[in-house]
Amino acid sequence: MNQSDNSKSGSLLLLVAGAKGAVASTLAAALAAARRDPASVLPSLTTGNMFDALVPISATFLAGWDTSEERYTDSIRRHGVLPLELWEPLAGDLERTLVYKAPDAASDFIGQVDLLRRDIDEIRVHHNGAQAVFINLLPAAVSLRLNEYRDIAHLMAEADFSALPDMAYTLAAIQSGIPVVNFTPNPVEIPVLLDEAVKQGVPVLGRDGKTGQTYIKVVLASAFKARNLQVNGWYSLNILGNADGANLMDPQRAAGKLHNKTNLLDEILEYEVGSPHGAPAHKVRIDYYPPRGDAKEAWDVIDFSGLFGLPMSLRINLLGRDSILAAPMVLDLARWATALQLVGYSGPIPELGFYFKNTVGDNPPLTFQDQLTSLAQLQHKFEEKLTSGTMKNV
Ligand SMILES: NC(=O)c1ccc[n+]([C@@H]2O[C@H](COP(=O)([O-])OP(=O)(O)OC[C@H]3O[C@@H](n4cnc5c(N)ncnc54)[C@H](O)[C@@H]3O)[C@@H](O)[C@H]2O)c1
Repeated sequence: MNQSDNSKSGSLLLLVAGAKGAVASTLAAALAAARRDPASVLPSLTTGNMFDALVPISATFLAGWDTSEERYTDSIRRHGVLPLELWEPLAGDLERTLVYKAPDAASDFIGQVDLLRRDIDEIRVHHNGAQAVFINLLPAAVSLRLNEYRDIAHLMAEADFSALPDMAYTLAAIQSGIPVVNFTPNPVEIPVLLDEAVKQGVPVLGRDGKTGQTYIKVVLASAFKARNLQVNGWYSLNILGNADGANLMDPQRAAGKLHNKTNLLDEILEYEVGSPHGAPAHKVRIDYYPPRGDAKEAWDVIDFSGLFGLPMSLRINLLGRDSILAAPMVLDLARWATALQLVGYSGPIPELGFYFKNTVGDNPPLTFQDQLTSLAQLQHKFEEKLTSGTMKNV
């Protein structure tokens, strides 16, 4: 199959790297539930009343790759995100999830990309030629210097991506003409890859899903800004006990995530929080705390001032559920990605800043209001292109 084959089809296939992880397996369960009863999932989506004619939720499937060889339902049980009574009736369906063995990240890079492209073709054939979208749900990785490659051939020949397996998957998806959603903090969207995506007619959506604490932070920071209330400090603490939390205890792996969680505040406010104190006063901490599993808890202390600089303060305590917040957003992004490809979008889509902590592309909207406006404008443009027949391959 090649790019021209990723056109509208009766079903949609989410090809996930990290297909047995906490977010992916929660998403697989949501899709299995939606195939039986779309109304059990649609109300939790932001795209619930969109794209229906193009991407039916009742015909959306998940497949992909993982390093884990455990049974699919054992992964679901291990993550402990969903109560047994929710997933057990779907167990037969969930066990049919097609999960391929992940390529060895230390092996020859070109060989990995070829293997993944063959896997993509095979999985799509198994799903009757479904329209596909690639979703990156791999663990947070260490940051690499990746911007110096001249072109794809140079990158493929010289790079060592053993510490960033995401790269082989992303390139394989792009070269197969399949849109990319990067939900991880891993910076795969380097210039040569984005150029290749434009060449292949592939939208690239990323980076780092904005699910819980950071979502609320953007809303509140935008509200402080709109009222000209000065933010003097913002302390954010997270505890979580899932595999993502354990992984983020490695400072090198946490660096990208912390950068994404921190930078956006100053960008929204248009000043450096803490500058009057002579030191940054926006602190973000993540702690692995096993008893909480996926039930992440976050605290925020926000110090701000108003008229005459008189100080005030706000406390927030979010009792969240990491994968329950993330899974519907991944599905929303998959629906956006396939819909946008269909009407001819390719490369980064900064208008989707609503969904990300660190949006790839030029001039992404920063405040909550701007993010909602951009989203509405993108929907409008999509509908215009759809009705004017600017669709590809349909
Ligand atoms: N949950 C959220 O709210 C949220 C928000 C933003 C970003 N994210 C990001 O989403 C990603 C997934 O989160 P999660 O909680 O599902 O993590 P997870 O650790 O539960 O899942 C990762 C999966 O990837 C698999 N894996 C590891 N190496 C692989 C490889 N080379 N090829 C294929 N599979 C491989 C693991 O076996 C595991 O099943 C993380 O990067 C996380 O930081 C999550």
